Amino acid sequence: MMLIRLIYFSRNRLDEWYDRKDAGIAEILATSVANNLRDCITGALICDERWFVQALEGAENKVSAAFERILRDQRHRDVSLVTMQAVSERRYPNAAMACVMRSQDNDDLFRHYGEDACFDPRQVRPERLSDLIEAVVQRRATGEPAWTKKHATNAA
Ligand SMILES: Cc1cc2nc3c(=O)[nH]c(=O)nc-3n(C[C@H](O)[C@H](O)[C@H](O)COP(=O)(O)O)c2cc1C
Repeated sequence: MMLIRLIYFSRNRLDEWYDRKDAGIAEILATSVANNLRDCITGALICDERWFVQALEGAENKVSAAFERILRDQRHRDVSLVTMQAVSERRYPNAAMACVMRSQDNDDLFRHYGEDACFDPRQVRPERLSDLIEAVVQRRATGEPAWTKKHATNAA
């Protein structure tokens, strides 16, 4: 099986559909986890008030089919494909869809990788977007600031 990783970002429209954003996220996540388990897709979804950034990994036909459904979803708009490439292994092997919202706990990561207090994925290079997703997910998993170590090493 050829393993594919697809990354996109889009404009968050949850405030137009839900009274509470976390209700919208919960609904998206319930469907995503059920479908992704069925389709052997893994990945991660991060979001702030204005943007979603998502990584999907799995078999090419399954990832493409999920992305086509995602493209049609009215809960976001302006979906922009960042990368779709063959990869040798999964980055999120244990997550049918890890999901983390921007919060005080990870705000520094959005600033660091976005290089701006006001995160705008259109201004961020593809590798950095991918690193941001990973850092945010890792922070939640371990409570560890993923990038400060790298940062410290570089500075030394
Ligand atoms: C930001 C965002 C991320 C989503 N991620 C996924 C996903 O990873 N997998 C998935 O199957 N659906 C995902 N969805 C939901 C799809 O757009 C669509 O509603 C769903 O796949 C339809 O599934 P159903 O045909 O089983 O009802 C996402 C939607 C949004 C708005």
